[in-house]
Amino acid sequence: MTSQTLWEARKYEEAFGKTISKEERPEFHLSPRTGWMNDPNGFSWYGGKYHMFYQYYPYDSHWGPMHWGHAASEDLLHWEYLPAALAPDEVYDRDGCFSGSAVALPDGRHLLMYTGVVRERQANGGYSEVQTQCLAVGDGVDYVKYAKNPVLDERYLPEGSSRYDFRDPKLWQEADGSYRCVVGNRAADGSGQILLFSSQDGFEWHYEKVLAANHNRFGKMWECPDFFQLDGKWVLLTSPQDMLPSGLEYHNGNGTLCLIGNYDREKEEFQEESDQSVDYGIDFYAPQTILTPDGRRVMIGWMQNWDTCNHRRKQDEPWFGQMSLPRELSVRNGRLYQQPVRELEEMRQNKVVHENVIVSGTVKLEGVRGRRVDMEVTVRPEEGCDLYRKFAVRFAQNDSYYTSFSFRPGESVLKVDRKFSGSRRATIHQRRSQVKHEGGQLKLRMILDRFSVEVFVNDGEQVLSAVLYTDQEADGISFIADGTVNMNVVKYDLA
Ligand code: FRU
Repeated sequence: MTSQTLWEARKYEEAFGKTISKEERPEFHLSPRTGWMNDPNGFSWYGGKYHMFYQYYPYDSHWGPMHWGHAASEDLLHWEYLPAALAPDEVYDRDGCFSGSAVALPDGRHLLMYTGVVRERQANGGYSEVQTQCLAVGDGVDYVKYAKNPVLDERYLPEGSSRYDFRDPKLWQEADGSYRCVVGNRAADGSGQILLFSSQDGFEWHYEKVLAANHNRFGKMWECPDFFQLDGKWVLLTSPQDMLPSGLEYHNGNGTLCLIGNYDREKEEFQEESDQSVDYGIDFYAPQTILTPDGRRVMIGWMQNWDTCNHRRKQDEPWFGQMSLPRELSVRNGRLYQQPVRELEEMRQNKVVHENVIVSGTVKLEGVRGRRVDMEVTVRPEEGCDLYRKFAVRFAQNDSYYTSFSFRPGESVLKVDRKFSGSRRATIHQRRSQVKHEGGQLKLRMILDRFSVEVFVNDGEQVLSAVLYTDQEADGISFIADGTVNMNVVKYDLA
């Protein structure tokens, strides 16, 4: 039975969702039906479609009591809204249905696992949120919360672990039919850790182990874990809070972390070998992955950052928050690689090619403009010339505005800068990433979708993502070199 709270949310989103025109939204990045969106949740393949749920507050474009919004897609790019799936309507989740995940059960039902939140009054008069793991079962549209919720609470936690920071279960089914899930938690020393739980049927859960411990290395609490095998390695993704920068690898605040290593299934031990950021841009957090029916590991993140949520079009906008492009993952030489899902190529139109363009100063190219664009730019020093000092692409550009990527081969640094994108807030507008290049040769693939840019460097070695709310009329693109570069450009419109 649908609760009053869920019924109201469904009624509201149906009425107000209609008032947002297609042009006011990204074209192929999922945005909330109305109001606020944060983390991707329950990313799964069910009933012949991809399902994506999301942290959702339909009534305002700011965070509020969390619901789960819902959408489905056949190609990960064209999303159809479904009615909100969960609302905070039970004693164990009355202050929020926080992040979680989903699997298809062998009996054909869809199982959701999420964090139920209840605010608890503390001695000092403030509140802390008690967090437990809960289940809901459904048919792809309607979900019924499990009668025995919560299925994991403080009784299942190792000694000293926090019951206030215990959230974001990511579950999966093993080859033998049993289930595992990883959950973010904080150990007695206050530092993040990822706990591993197991279940025979998906309903009755047992504590297994601390799969990975932060020991106060990368930020504090670790949110939204994901754990999977890829290209002979095991990958642990998590989103640490309160990070400190480490060179250009990690930035201050809420960030993303990818640990790559090996996993001994018998001992349930993860041995990390390397660490890196997942995204080196401004807006990316809390990613979740899926294994597609054709065997690809695809990741989608919240293309936003908790530290920059004040960077908005306006305070009363009808929607806020969007998902990143779905990205195909691979591991090569101990590094995580990301490429836009190949389905994006189906959306390419109006191919424009410019080869061996000499850039010294500023260049604009025939047919190269737009705000829904897939563009590959390859640069190298012009023969016989000294190594150039700087190369930049400016986009979402008119007389007043632009955002840019600029590359300085002398420092091997690529920078995204949206300071002049029309923003009226003093939030973070720049970020730099170390990139590899041979003598100034660099390859960038940029994807623009009205309110965002994502650049894939050197076939996915690094990705930098940023949202931008520049007026859509600002659709110019130009290329700038300090020194002389030789450049190839292949550009498509995406429609
Ligand atoms: C991450 C997060 C999760 C939590 C959710 C609440 O962005 O803080 O840890 O479940 O958002 O909306």
